[in-house]
Amino acid sequence: MQLGDGLSAVVTGGASGLGAATARVLAAEGVKVALFDLDEARGREVAERTGGLFCRCDVTSADAVAAALEQARSEHGTERITVNCAGIAIGKRTVRRDRETGALEPHDLESFSKVIHINLIGSFNVLSQSAAGMLALEPLTPDGGRGVIVNTASVAAQDGQLGQVAYAASKGGVAAMTLPVARDLAGDGVRVVTILPGLFDTPMFATLPDDIRDALGASVPFPSRLGDPQEYAALVRHICENDMLNGECIRLDGAVRLAPK
Ligand SMILES: NC(=O)c1ccc[n+]([C@@H]2O[C@H](COP(=O)([O-])OP(=O)(O)OC[C@H]3O[C@@H](n4cnc5c(N)ncnc54)[C@H](O)[C@@H]3O)[C@@H](O)[C@H]2O)c1
Repeated sequence: MQLGDGLSAVVTGGASGLGAATARVLAAEGVKVALFDLDEARGREVAERTGGLFCRCDVTSADAVAAALEQARSEHGTERITVNCAGIAIGKRTVRRDRETGALEPHDLESFSKVIHINLIGSFNVLSQSAAGMLALEPLTPDGGRGVIVNTASVAAQDGQLGQVAYAASKGGVAAMTLPVARDLAGDGVRVVTILPGLFDTPMFATLPDDIRDALGASVPFPSRLGDPQEYAALVRHICENDMLNGECIRLDGAVRLAPK
């Protein structure tokens, strides 16, 4: 698909980090971008800077996503590009041992479910509703391509660390659904690709002390630094433009393999 004027995109989690960088890169190519996020202040700021549209939306709600898609489509036309970046991370082990009392406490189901709901079910909710809109569009490319969906998993889908059970399970689900969704939509010319980022310098990392950020960066074989969100956004742009990429999960990680902790 050739990027340019007349195309529109939906980017979830677009108020921050990888999603905001993606919005900037797509907007620079002339794409009209709608940002779906819970963070209204930062979302409006990014929308203003990219000439896009902010839609306050919880990706876990079918109704909220339907309403946000309706708003975005009425302003920009139906999206040809959907990028799922909304996500959260928590750190909790399968069983917690209290240091003082020795008491053993299983991972609470509430926080486990919350991570699965936002990262996995939220991504599916957005991609399935977005795909339904794309399928009703006329083909755009000589091969009959109608649109492209990019999901964001994590290298934790493959090498989840200690305390990452909920996060790794959610991202593993995103990676595992990539091929079946691509197969479901192939007959109608919608491609699906998932990126597995390694360690990227986003607001998630900005709160860490400098020495810990430096140590994380140094753990990456090459280049030995945290990834720049622009590098993630550049891969999204390439996925949009390269019609042969479909049904695949791509690690973007400088060859890092996460240690157990
Ligand atoms: N930064 C990294 O190193 C890294 C590595 C691997 C994977 N990822 C994944 O990339 C994605 C983006 O991460 P980031 O680092 O940019 O994080 P971030 O915290 O900077 O941005 C995430 C955005 O998602 C939004 N969000 C959270 N829950 C939402 C919901 N229910 N509905 C709508 N929006 C919601 C937040 O408001 C925020 O703006 C996440 O899925 C994350 O798991 C990030």
